[in-house]
Amino acid sequence: MRCVGVEQLAAGGTGVTAGEWTTLHPDGALRVLVTRQLPGFAWKKILVEANARVDIFRGDRILAPEEIEAALGTQCDGCIGQLSEVWDKRLLGALKAAGGIVYSNYAVGYDNVDIASATNYQIAVGNTPGVLTETTAEMAAALTLAAARRIVESDAFMRKGLFQGWSPGLFLGEHLWRKTVGIIGAGRIGTAYGRIMVEGFKMHLLYYDPVENPFLEAYVRAYNAFLSAQGQEPLSCRRVDDIELLLKEADVVSLHCVLDRTTYHMIDAPRLSLMKQGAILINTSRGPLIDEAALVAHCRRHPTFKVGLDVYEHEPFTSPGLVDLPNVVVLPHIGSASRWTREAMAIIAARNVVGILKGYPVWCQPDMSVFLSDACPKATPSVVNARALGLRLCSE
Ligand code: DGY
Repeated sequence: MRCVGVEQLAAGGTGVTAGEWTTLHPDGALRVLVTRQLPGFAWKKILVEANARVDIFRGDRILAPEEIEAALGTQCDGCIGQLSEVWDKRLLGALKAAGGIVYSNYAVGYDNVDIASATNYQIAVGNTPGVLTETTAEMAAALTLAAARRIVESDAFMRKGLFQGWSPGLFLGEHLWRKTVGIIGAGRIGTAYGRIMVEGFKMHLLYYDPVENPFLEAYVRAYNAFLSAQGQEPLSCRRVDDIELLLKEADVVSLHCVLDRTTYHMIDAPRLSLMKQGAILINTSRGPLIDEAALVAHCRRHPTFKVGLDVYEHEPFTSPGLVDLPNVVVLPHIGSASRWTREAMAIIAARNVVGILKGYPVWCQPDMSVFLSDACPKATPSVVNARALGLRLCSE
């Protein structure tokens, strides 16, 4: 068997291929399973340099649980998996039985992972925050514009050869300038989106979040100082305690919260009915935040209501009627899909696995960019159950 080490990787070596799987560095002392080919090269180098045999699924499909279980086999120290796989007690148990101590999701969200079971099995669960913040916020902004200004409908109209010349009433939409944007979930991505909407479109900002976001509020205050210096009206930035208030007041509502029991179907029929008839609803977070059947019914009844979705309740499927609605823009979960971000996510996931296998402490600062260079700290970038597992933290 040909051994593909770091040198061969650098020279473009692609590994030993058997069926739908490729193996890098087959003689590695450790074994890491990667359930989907990831963009870039650096992540492979990180794993191989850590002396891991790396088994990568090359197929262009989502592996079934029994396929992952079989691939984990009897020896697997760590695994990089996908948000489209359900890492429940069964799969985590299979990883544990194979000797695994770390699983990294190739995503910032980890609602597909049973954290309690992982902790119970002493498996560290990594995710990939920080490197997709601006990319996903940009996509939320793109969806907002596409929905507001009916870009997708207009594009289809052009391609059908229906354009007969300028017309005063053609594809009338909504402008954003100095209207109000409501952010539900003001974490990293929500904050980045808020900044884009404030700076780009001078939107007043409302946010709903269990905790205050002093950074965002200070940012808008500083921006207001700039606006005043330009002789322009300041913008408001307000945290609200109840979602209903935000839904009633906002012209654009964008969802940026995690999916858990408390946020499942947070946007349902009664809450949709509170929103302005011409409002815009954006979701780049997780599909089940919205009751999709209720959304379809609402959009049918209110043709001026507009929606931009990157995620779906029953991904990859969409609820009956959703894709036929002209007032809904639909994307295939590509919020973080810039080349740089997807390569950076792969690097963070690989460093999560290597960091735990080497016993490095867990990084506790928001800046993940330090992990993208070769001269990165000897730390594990992001482990969501680090405290529950009693892992050593960098600050300690
Ligand atoms: C995530 O990371 O959670 C996104 O949904 C995909 O990048």
